Amino acid sequence: MGALPVELENVYARYAGSEDWIVKDVTLKVDRGEMVVIMGPSGCGKSTLINVIGGLIPHIVAGVVKGKVKVEGIDVLKEGYRAIVGKVGIVYQNPEIQVITRSVFEELAMAPENLGLPRDEIIERVNWALEILGLKGYERRDPQTLSGGEKQLVAIASVLTMQPRILMLDEPTSMLDHEGTRMVLNAINNLRENTEMTVIVVEHRVEWAVEVADRIIVMDQGKIVLEGSPAEVFSREEEVKKFGVRPPSVSEVAYELRARGVDIPVPVRLSEAYKVLSGVLPVDRVEER
Ligand SMILES: Nc1ncnc2c1ncn2[C@@H]1O[C@H](COP(=O)(O)OP(=O)(O)O)[C@@H](O)[C@H]1O
Ligand SMILES: [Mg+2]
Repeated sequence: MGALPVELENVYARYAGSEDWIVKDVTLKVDRGEMVVIMGPSGCGKSTLINVIGGLIPHIVAGVVKGKVKVEGIDVLKEGYRAIVGKVGIVYQNPEIQVITRSVFEELAMAPENLGLPRDEIIERVNWALEILGLKGYERRDPQTLSGGEKQLVAIASVLTMQPRILMLDEPTSMLDHEGTRMVLNAINNLRENTEMTVIVVEHRVEWAVEVADRIIVMDQGKIVLEGSPAEVFSREEEVKKFGVRPPSVSEVAYELRARGVDIPVPVRLSEAYKVLSGVLPVDRVEER
């Protein structure tokens, strides 16, 4: 049992410079091992919410936070940022690779070295992070020579060496090309399958999100406006349209068919779409794969 990884109740947040609340009345409980994908238009408060959960606002970035913010059972507003350091890892858009390290190994060893861990443990943690992100063989590479996707994997790996219980990724692929995006999203899938880590990720690639998310959260103007399993979220066509979320293509096809009077459930994954659509379309000549 134990405490929930994230427990927010009626949370409001704003920066020192902002006039209005940026995060408004957010209540959110995240379970151990859960994978939550946050979506919503630019400026709606996704990063601010991540920064609140990570204890950055108000402790590192000046601002005001109201409500209950508990992370791993720790009252972050009362106990401060230090109380959750190491328990929560955050990865940003722009891979933060230190210019001072000369190898991927050094890069990854830095955080556990700063924790003052013994050499054996550092090596063990670095190897684990390399393994789980498919970076074996990169140990001696110069971080500066890596592709964007590889740099982002190294950035994720260096957060993992802290062995956080919660990993938050804020638009980890938005600076990457197609190949880099694929690498990073695959790596997140691996983490999901092979660890008990709780993962919160801000990511717009909906086709990916519906495959891996336990829950999708849609934010708009600082509030959570839509929330549920991928199937639940995208079955609410009216709200999906109202809040401008791009649905998976297969859900869109179903919306169109439903508008034409075809009574079918809304699929979110390609694999479900075949089943749903083969019931209403003349696909008997299409070989099932
Ligand atoms: N450090 C800051 N100081 C003041 N306002 C900020 C700061 N960071 C973001 N904002 C404002 O907060 C709002 C929400 O931003 P953000 O949480 O970054 O949105 P998102 O991540 O959904 O794009 C925006 O209007 C943005 O201009
Ligand atoms: Mg953001």
